Amino acid sequence: MCGIVGYIGGQEASPIIIEGLRKLEYRGYDSAGICTLNGGAPQIRRAEGKLINLEKILTTTPALGTRGIGHTRWATHGRPSEINAHPHKADGIVVVHNGIIENYLKLKEQLVEAGHQFSSETDTEIIAHLIDEHYRRCGDFEEAVRSALRQVKGAYAVAIVCQQEPDKLIAAKFGSPLVVGQGQGEYLVASDIPAMLSHTREMIFLEDGEVAVFTPEKMWVTDLQGTLLEKQSKTITWSPLMAEKGGFKHFMLKEIYEQPRALADTMAGRLQLDEGDVFLEDLNLTAEDLAGLDKIFVIACGTSWHAGLVGKFYLEKLARIPVEIDIASEFRYRDPIVAANSLTVLISQSGETADTLAALREAKSKGGKTLCICNVVDSSIARESDAVIYTHAGPEIGVASTKAFTTQLVALYLLALKLGRVRGQLSAAGCQQKITDLLTLPRKVEEVLELDGSIENIAKNYMNARDFLYLGRGNQYPIALEGALKLKEISYIHAEGYPAGEMKHGPIALIDENLPVVVLVPQNATYDKVVSNMQEVCARGGIVIAITSGTDERLRQQVSALIQVPELDDDLMPILTSIPIQLLAYHVAVLKGTDVDQPRNLAKSVTVE
Ligand code: F6R
Repeated sequence: MCGIVGYIGGQEASPIIIEGLRKLEYRGYDSAGICTLNGGAPQIRRAEGKLINLEKILTTTPALGTRGIGHTRWATHGRPSEINAHPHKADGIVVVHNGIIENYLKLKEQLVEAGHQFSSETDTEIIAHLIDEHYRRCGDFEEAVRSALRQVKGAYAVAIVCQQEPDKLIAAKFGSPLVVGQGQGEYLVASDIPAMLSHTREMIFLEDGEVAVFTPEKMWVTDLQGTLLEKQSKTITWSPLMAEKGGFKHFMLKEIYEQPRALADTMAGRLQLDEGDVFLEDLNLTAEDLAGLDKIFVIACGTSWHAGLVGKFYLEKLARIPVEIDIASEFRYRDPIVAANSLTVLISQSGETADTLAALREAKSKGGKTLCICNVVDSSIARESDAVIYTHAGPEIGVASTKAFTTQLVALYLLALKLGRVRGQLSAAGCQQKITDLLTLPRKVEEVLELDGSIENIAKNYMNARDFLYLGRGNQYPIALEGALKLKEISYIHAEGYPAGEMKHGPIALIDENLPVVVLVPQNATYDKVVSNMQEVCARGGIVIAITSGTDERLRQQVSALIQVPELDDDLMPILTSIPIQLLAYHVAVLKGTDVDQPRNLAKSVTVE
């Protein structure tokens, strides 16, 4: 996720901004930039790669001045490059931005018509030009910012300076975090608290739709209409490390809690509710290509492979195309039969996993089309695939994948909807219904996150078990596999995921009063079947932890613990039931005292075979 730092006061801005950006490095980024004001034209310096590259440029060509804004960019629109790095400028207006502007294509068309010329592939540059357009008309920086932001749809946190009004810095937010730091004769603004902690602990938290205007001496906050608002500062007592984790004990927990936002970002700008369709911006495959497909391969490793298993349900159900799913390290050596009219979908959070990359090359060499679902813009797999659907999860730092997994499921769902529409398997009305359900997902995930305390209590009761079994049917079977993987990788407890109906063919021999069995049993077509599988466990004295959307009293009475998730369309239920299995694994691991964010023997990106 991108980082923003802004400064206005009596000291040189650029060292303060660089120091702040360094504190945000943990968020991940691929380019960085800064702009200061010193009486003349805005001094913009930008560099691809790490902050050190920007610092080298600043050593030879310093950016001077006591006002400035800086940014570390995690690419979403446009590849990582100097040209796409922030700040972006339009005449005297300079902007840094976090978030995604959903209506950027429409705004860009209007601005091009009005004579604006663009030099980057980013959605951010649109904001700079839009403010500039208003500034030309009204000649008032503050008013121009508010007018522009009233036109913008999507998520943003922005910091803006203006050459013609150098004694003001403006910041605003909607859907992306932004915090103001109040110092002595100076103000800072940043996307995250750690960037400012060495200067001040007095923080003012901006809310959505608020615009803060700073001079070195004072600050005021208005809404987007210009009405003045009262704001109170808060004293932050966090340690710097706590601050990096946003006050959460671990990155993994922070990332679990980021899921409502990550899921919404992955849908942003892609749902066309009125038309009953889906727009996938980097899908370089024509409607003809998509309509002509007669087979899909889905290839990935680990958690991403589990996402692929759910994806098979989506693609076969909504687009009616046969799907073959493979683990990348198997696919690459089995001499697969890949026809020209097939599509190979590679799923990878990092985009660098060696086996998945090799599988991609294998599929390409055999002539099929390739598409990747990836979280890292311009990663090797994204570069080499014919088409890409980026998940907008933001960087995932905890080694155990959480938000990357659930956003992969959303991306697969969007692909299935698109293929369903192109191939005439899904009507516009049917797609509208699916989109309507999808839009409720972030709120329902928030509801599940509220169960955190009760899931922690369940973890306390079963943390000493030697083994766990996870059972699910249909699209919940991959979630059973994912639950078992999450638990083993961070708590080091042996766990297995099994199709619920398969239990009687062997694993039932394991059941006794010491084995917790997590049963995924949402209210769906196979509910009764899973309940009878669960009863087979209960009849043998096993411990059942049920995750259900039903309100069946019989179930409640039979199980040792019950986690109740809200009702949701069955296709999307795997995303919802993923949350309790993540939280259960997390709490068991914390109680056992393992290194949750960096479990032993594991690496975040597996770039070796
Ligand atoms: C488990 C986990 C791994 C990865 C796997 C593939 O929590 O994170 O199983 O899913 O190593 O990684 P990517 O998705 O980067 O290709």
